[in-house]
Amino acid sequence: MEQNKTRIAVLVSGGGTNLQALIDAQARGELGGGEISLVLASKPGVYALERAANAGIQGMVLARKAYESADAYTKALVATLQQEGIELVVLAGFMIIIGEEMYKAFPNRIINVHPALIPSFCGQGFYGLHVHEAALAKGVKVSGATVHFVTPECDAGPIILQKAVDVHEDDTPETLQKRIMQEAEWKILPLAVSLFCQGRLKVENNKVYIS
Ligand code: GAR
Repeated sequence: MEQNKTRIAVLVSGGGTNLQALIDAQARGELGGGEISLVLASKPGVYALERAANAGIQGMVLARKAYESADAYTKALVATLQQEGIELVVLAGFMIIIGEEMYKAFPNRIINVHPALIPSFCGQGFYGLHVHEAALAKGVKVSGATVHFVTPECDAGPIILQKAVDVHEDDTPETLQKRIMQEAEWKILPLAVSLFCQGRLKVENNKVYIS
């Protein structure tokens, strides 16, 4: 008999190329027994919702604008995810700061992808293209991506996987972003989700051990 699938929600705010990488991995049978049950967007009209619709996955908008505080938004988010029986939450370009209640409801069950090698170029204000602008301003020769569990401290949770990517002298923030997505994010995010769904990730003292 087939085992119950891990119900995954992917939270998005934009184009959703990382969501697409997860959808493609699922189609290839590479999500380790996970199933994307819900795609939740922080605003209407984002292309990620179209990707969900094209793949026959339930999409939903929970607009940040409709809530007056981060706490009120977080409460609604937790209630929605619990109603849907979600077991793993993936932040894939979700540009909203979530509150305390979310971490309590999903301890070591929220995964984020960050477009740099944490602890470089991370924390408050480091999101999207800003991350790559900062990396180029510093002149680093190598950047990359990190997938980590989410904790209350921004970008400081236990690291699951990282992948390095070369920086080229003629890179712009846009070309570097693209290369990091292609060579790192779209590979390590589905892999981390698969490892989670196979029950192969153990967190001890803020470190992740993979079995
Ligand atoms: C990705 O590069 C992701 O790592 C980044 O936003 C982009 C979303 O692209 N996330 C952050 O910066 C979070 N701090 P996508 O919508 O095409 O997946």
